[in-house]
Amino acid sequence: PLSTGTAHHFSFLLNTSDYRILRMDEDHDRMYVGSKDYILSLDLHDINREPLIIHWPVSPQRKTECVLSGKDTNGECGNFIRLIEPWNRTHLYVCGTGAYNPVCTYVNRGRKPMEYVFHLEPGKEDSGKGKCPYDPKLNSVSALINGELYAGVYIDFMGTDSAIFRTLGKNAVMRTDQYNSRWLNDPSFVHVHLIPDSNEKNDDKLYFFFREKSSGMGQSPKSQSRIGRICLNDDGGHCCLVNKWSTFLKARLICSVPGADGIETHFDELRDVYIQPTQDTKNPVIYGVFSVSGSVFKGSAVCVYSMADIRMVFNGPFAHKEGPNYQWVAYTGKIPYPRPGTCPGGTFTPNMKSTKDYPDEVINFMRNHPTMYNAVYPVHRRPLVVRTNVDYEFTTITVDQVTAADGNYEVLFLGTDRGSVQKVIVLPRDDLQTEELVLEEVEVFQVRSQQLYVASPVGVTHLALHRCDVYGEACADCCLARDPYCAWDGNSCSRYSASQKRRSRRQDVKYGNPIRQCRGYNSNTNKNTPETVQYGVEGSSTFLECQARSPHAAIKWHLHRDNSDRRREVRTHNYIYCICKWYRFGIILFRHTGCQ
Ligand SMILES: *[C@@H]1O[C@H](CO)[C@@H](O)[C@H](O)[C@H]1NC(C)=O
Repeated sequence: PLSTGTAHHFSFLLNTSDYRILRMDEDHDRMYVGSKDYILSLDLHDINREPLIIHWPVSPQRKTECVLSGKDTNGECGNFIRLIEPWNRTHLYVCGTGAYNPVCTYVNRGRKPMEYVFHLEPGKEDSGKGKCPYDPKLNSVSALINGELYAGVYIDFMGTDSAIFRTLGKNAVMRTDQYNSRWLNDPSFVHVHLIPDSNEKNDDKLYFFFREKSSGMGQSPKSQSRIGRICLNDDGGHCCLVNKWSTFLKARLICSVPGADGIETHFDELRDVYIQPTQDTKNPVIYGVFSVSGSVFKGSAVCVYSMADIRMVFNGPFAHKEGPNYQWVAYTGKIPYPRPGTCPGGTFTPNMKSTKDYPDEVINFMRNHPTMYNAVYPVHRRPLVVRTNVDYEFTTITVDQVTAADGNYEVLFLGTDRGSVQKVIVLPRDDLQTEELVLEEVEVFQVRSQQLYVASPVGVTHLALHRCDVYGEACADCCLARDPYCAWDGNSCSRYSASQKRRSRRQDVKYGNPIRQCRGYNSNTNKNTPETVQYGVEGSSTFLECQARSPHAAIKWHLHRDNSDRRREVRTHNYIYCICKWYRFGIILFRHTGCQ
């Protein structure tokens, strides 16, 4: 449960809903939040400071038109802000659903943060078609790169024409082939990210993550998860696919657990993606959160993908279907040159500056073969984290890299559909084995310099990542918590930062062994090991309760007889880390550590 002392909740007393954190602005130290009819700018240094607020409603006339078209059943006839992109040094580009008539405009945020400038640029409104959805319930993704806006979005009032769209720039407007279910089949867009392929800028590719209706390949679940990509410098075809992507390819993302009977359990529905940067910009690590489609059972999982595996699939065979009554097979015919999906002017095509220079057979091949035959499997071919037989699903993910007292760890923050966040760490054991620890469960979202921001329909919440005080006042408690943000400093469980002297800090994230780490602290029973004492009369029954402070802590009960050094473990359903003592006159004194 969330202790309110460390969570700051913001709902701003505005008559609005549907808050979304749309952009972190590292240069201006601001966080931009969009909601219904409002754009907010929050100070990242001092989140308690009054936000700068823009009110951007639709005109009363537009609202009336929207309501008359029957679209306001759940208040959808508002301006739901869905896109905030940095435009230049002083301005942001923002778009909203505009009561089923998407609109975009520029926001002046000033040159420096101290100016506190934040207002709409008058007279700059333009159409949001192809940038922002009409229906606030439909997900969209966007990226503004070199003055061009790339968006995965539904571009019509009815919500039937989905596209990956390019607008705004000097180049021609581009899109995916219209109503071609081989390209996009009722997609739900999840994430977009630019990942360079080589040191040659012309090879840069934009990756889209989405789920869509199954195309009938493989085991045919209801829904399939996808990774798709386009070249940034795609100009479309010359003969055909004019103003349509001529480098669009997609592959299936698999997240499944092999069962004992050989039947795999598939987590088919991609829900969220987090891209963890590494030293090598070409090879970030990709984390995906998946849930089970349909209603067979509830379950979710986190899978991790490497760019090497993803590139191998895009360099592999294309999926081919001879006709409506044929199966999907790997295409074995001649593949035209340059290989479909190759960017113009890149490492392999220095002499073809534009996709318009590509031979007709390349463009024709692209139109009918947008899908790769092989699927992308996760690292180690299985999920990093799995949850089944629980009444919640993971829906969002953020990853933080932490330098702890005993090494470097990746901490996952997994948002759930019941409105909480699990802080999870996965430790490598021997070979392929891993151990997963749930450090605590709080509420989500976006990590920046050790802050966790949580956006929800009703507001934005800010949490400190290092909530070490919740782990209690004993060295053993701190150690058993195995939280890499925290360590025992000799007096209390406190925030660990890598710059501190190593010697004086005690933490053991890997093994959580308080006996070794807390030698000298545990034996001092007064201060460093607060013990709860429970009495019982010999011969009568006593209910003993011990709740773990950290959800993963294994708890054991031990029985200590008076004047004896030997202790015996008492087996119970819950292992409880306890020290119990017999007293001579029939009173039993129970002591335990690692619990409240
Ligand atoms: C940024 O873009 C806005 C909108 O196009 C324009 O009015 C403004 O002058 C630009 N600012 C700079 C510093 O280029």
